[in-house]
Amino acid sequence: METQLKSQSKLDSLVCSQCKSSYSAAQVSTYSLCCHKPLIPTYHKADLPKSILLGREQSMWRYAEMLPLLDYNNRVTLGEGMTPILKWPVLSDRFGLTNLLIKDEGVNPTGSFKARGIAMAVSKAIELGMDSFVIPTAGNAGVALSAYAAASGRKATVIMPRKTPDYFKEQCEHYGAELILVEGLIDSCGKLAAQMAENRGSFNLSTMKEPYRLEGKKTMGYELAEQLDWQVPDMILYPTGGGTGLIGIWKAFKEMITLGWINGKLPKMIAVQSALCSPIMDRFTGRQPNAAYQMSIANGLSVPSAFGEDMIMQVLRESEGSVMTVTEQEIFSSMNEIGEHESMLISAEGAAVWAATKRLAESKQVDKNTKILILNTGSRCV
Ligand SMILES: Cc1ncc(COP(=O)(O)O)c(C=O)c1O
Repeated sequence: METQLKSQSKLDSLVCSQCKSSYSAAQVSTYSLCCHKPLIPTYHKADLPKSILLGREQSMWRYAEMLPLLDYNNRVTLGEGMTPILKWPVLSDRFGLTNLLIKDEGVNPTGSFKARGIAMAVSKAIELGMDSFVIPTAGNAGVALSAYAAASGRKATVIMPRKTPDYFKEQCEHYGAELILVEGLIDSCGKLAAQMAENRGSFNLSTMKEPYRLEGKKTMGYELAEQLDWQVPDMILYPTGGGTGLIGIWKAFKEMITLGWINGKLPKMIAVQSALCSPIMDRFTGRQPNAAYQMSIANGLSVPSAFGEDMIMQVLRESEGSVMTVTEQEIFSSMNEIGEHESMLISAEGAAVWAATKRLAESKQVDKNTKILILNTGSRCV
């Protein structure tokens, strides 16, 4: 029998990711006023054995103590989380990888991992008294917000680049959101979102500019550890745009070490970007950011300047990880290859990660026994 989840969050405060100044978690916050950087939720130290998870519902909400929502009546859920970890027998064999795992986030409600972060942020914002939302988006986050706002009976405004595939636009409208199309990339959408949030008193869900989407996305880290019997992989490849998932997974690992749920060496975190838009690669290799980044077929990776960039760099440093870029051609052929051999309609972002993994295998940068986990963050839409 499932145990009923109650209000058991150990939420403490929000801290500035740069100078660690503390902010109250009881009021609506965006980013830190001291350093203009992301605010990160922290939790009181608590004795929480893994056994608390036994019998709990199979969703991201099972890690309730380490999530920011205080009252479960405020939860807006469509059943997000506890996505499967798959094996790709044909492709593993072909590329000589004996320990390849794929966490398939495409089966989340609204078709992507964005459901996790948006469910958490919408729920928490409602708990804090907000009742309308605005988001700049490359596509998936806008669809997720439209669905979760509709589920809560609240209004969503979604701002996306005009060049975004129609698939995303139609879905936002299907859920009744107000859709605004903007020239340029997601950074242009972000500027308008900030103005609109201020003018209308709406909650702005811009990536890493509020503290709660991160907490939803970090559940990918808790989940994959639990699903792998608390033995984390050697390497994780993650398609990185704004970086919330990468930062969140790493946050989860560090919290789980404090809780005593995992120990030993943590995975190397590899950020995968499109060669058309690779600010993280440019910073990692000491190059100037390019003024003319372009939109990739993996539109979630078309983020020219991530608000959480310092935190992404910190994860790469701490995990002894790195960055890889892949071409549009590699992304496209990987999508088709995965469909053909593993019967999966993978997102372009997930295909980018597979393209990078193949390169690691072919160039013998990984041993065939390396336990590699790749994230497919969404389902195919192009
Ligand atoms: C399918 C998909 N994968 C990856 C990303 C990048 O996510 P993050 O902001 O966590 O780096 C996005 C963002 O839009 C996305 O839609």
